[in-house]
Amino acid sequence: MNYIGLMSGTSMDAIDAVAISISSDTKLAVLATHSAPYPVELKAQLQRLGSPSSSELELAAQLDTRLGELFASAADEVRNKAGLERQHISAVGSHGQTVRHCPGAQQPFSLQIGNPAIIAERTGIATVADFRARDIAAGGQGAPLAPAFHLWMFHSRERNRAVVNIGGIANISYLPAQIGQRVRGFDTGPGNTLLDHWVAKHLGHNFDADGKWAATGTVTVTLLERLCNDDYFRAAPPKSTGPEHFDLDWLQRYLAEMRPPPQAQDVQATLTELTARTIAQALNDHFPSVDEIYVCGGGTHNKHLMVRLRSNLSSVALVETTAALGLDPDWVEAAAFAWLAHQTMTGQPGNLPSVTGARHEVVLGGIYKA
Ligand SMILES: Nc1ncnc2c1ncn2[C@@H]1O[C@H](COP(=O)(O)OP(=O)(O)OP(=O)(O)O)[C@@H](O)[C@H]1O
Ligand SMILES: [Mg+2]
Repeated sequence: MNYIGLMSGTSMDAIDAVAISISSDTKLAVLATHSAPYPVELKAQLQRLGSPSSSELELAAQLDTRLGELFASAADEVRNKAGLERQHISAVGSHGQTVRHCPGAQQPFSLQIGNPAIIAERTGIATVADFRARDIAAGGQGAPLAPAFHLWMFHSRERNRAVVNIGGIANISYLPAQIGQRVRGFDTGPGNTLLDHWVAKHLGHNFDADGKWAATGTVTVTLLERLCNDDYFRAAPPKSTGPEHFDLDWLQRYLAEMRPPPQAQDVQATLTELTARTIAQALNDHFPSVDEIYVCGGGTHNKHLMVRLRSNLSSVALVETTAALGLDPDWVEAAAFAWLAHQTMTGQPGNLPSVTGARHEVVLGGIYKA
């Protein structure tokens, strides 16, 4: 069976589209990939909408429609690249663009936009969307959802594996070798989000290419210690977070205490170390028996970050990207939502209560029929 996965993460960089085939023997094969960068002005609008203080209903509804059209185009594009007709695709799984993630609020919710009715209408393919809501309704965080896919795709019976996804936010999945042991996972905190925003503010770039700018700076130890003291890092899982917590205002509160203020490149070096250290600490504290770590997400392209991550994880024998397990690290998240669509279409649960904290397993998402 063939599926399309559409992912646009908290980095708000691009729509990642992947066409995959799923079978019981070979599991997953990538048929085609397509990445559609967000236009600069759309990214700015999404960031405005996503900022914690925004409450712009009209803009949210407009962008919901606009993204629906863009997601539909990305799905058609990747289907064409795969050389498939629409009737050969069982479903599109669309994550949507998160504009607010508040699973711990009095009225918990996680809001993704990118109208799935439009995707189904334009593509003529059944579309599964709104994956997080049902897990939250069952008492869960609604996140992370990728661990169930990581388990299906990357589990080994010999080695305890962990998968680390470094997107805007970083999340880990721990996959114990022994069947029956609980899979666990959570968001560790910032991945690329602070790095992106700091480099945008100071150099006007979308991201710190290869981590080159951070590599010119020196880690400011006092700042790093203070940032690492944020309550989120010490909170017990299940937990999930978003850029509404780890934003430049959050950083600014700590920077305001620093005399003299650190150099901009030293802050970039410190933020890179923060990502590396908090991922490593989460692994060391919660999953000390991990044998192998596989990294995915855009953060794998940040060479300096990968060096710092490996250095912080020196006790683990193997730190690789998911390419070593046959899946390109850039397409793991989009593939996860293609697989989650498969779970939904076949009536199977997509959440892991041991990860999200939900009271029970649930079939995720709503189906918008072809
Ligand atoms: N060459 C590179 N050097 C440094 N960083 C890079 C490079 N290429 C990509 N990145 C980083 O990866 C980010 C995009 O990663 P990705 O698409 O995995 O994140 P995301 O969209 O937030 O996804 P998700 O939330 O699903 O994990 C960019 O914003 C940037 O920070
Ligand atoms: Mg992305």
